[in-house]
Amino acid sequence: MTFSPTRRTVLIATGGAAAATLAAGCDDDDGGSSSTSTTTDRSTTGAAGEELAKTSEIPVGGGKIFAGPKVVVTQPTEGDFKAFSAVCTHQGCTVSTVADGTINCACHKSEFRISDGSVAAGPATEPLPQEQITVTGGSITLA
Ligand code: FES
Repeated sequence: MTFSPTRRTVLIATGGAAAATLAAGCDDDDGGSSSTSTTTDRSTTGAAGEELAKTSEIPVGGGKIFAGPKVVVTQPTEGDFKAFSAVCTHQGCTVSTVADGTINCACHKSEFRISDGSVAAGPATEPLPQEQITVTGGSITLA
């Protein structure tokens, strides 16, 4: 006679424990989903400050044209780096070569000196504007 109540009690207890476990599981899930993090990493890096070239890429007595930023970097004497606009002051072509101490425009054959961008041969009459660069540890960056 005392068996039936005991069994019922056990069943009820088991059912209750299962329900408690389910409830706890639901709570855990909610807790997990509420920990969603929103990361807004919007670091802005412009062209200025990015490496343009290694100093080893620029020949002494010559230079290198960078068509993207339209800059020409020269090294008139060892360790002395200069940068100029690569846009020809005659009619706006991008200069095409650096040779024999001059930056040369193929459009109408203007030539600019690698030391200061001044006109060595026309038809251009204005020098190439100087660009600001920083040389640090073998790396050249646009200022
Ligand atoms: S645009 Fe360069 S020489 Fe004319």
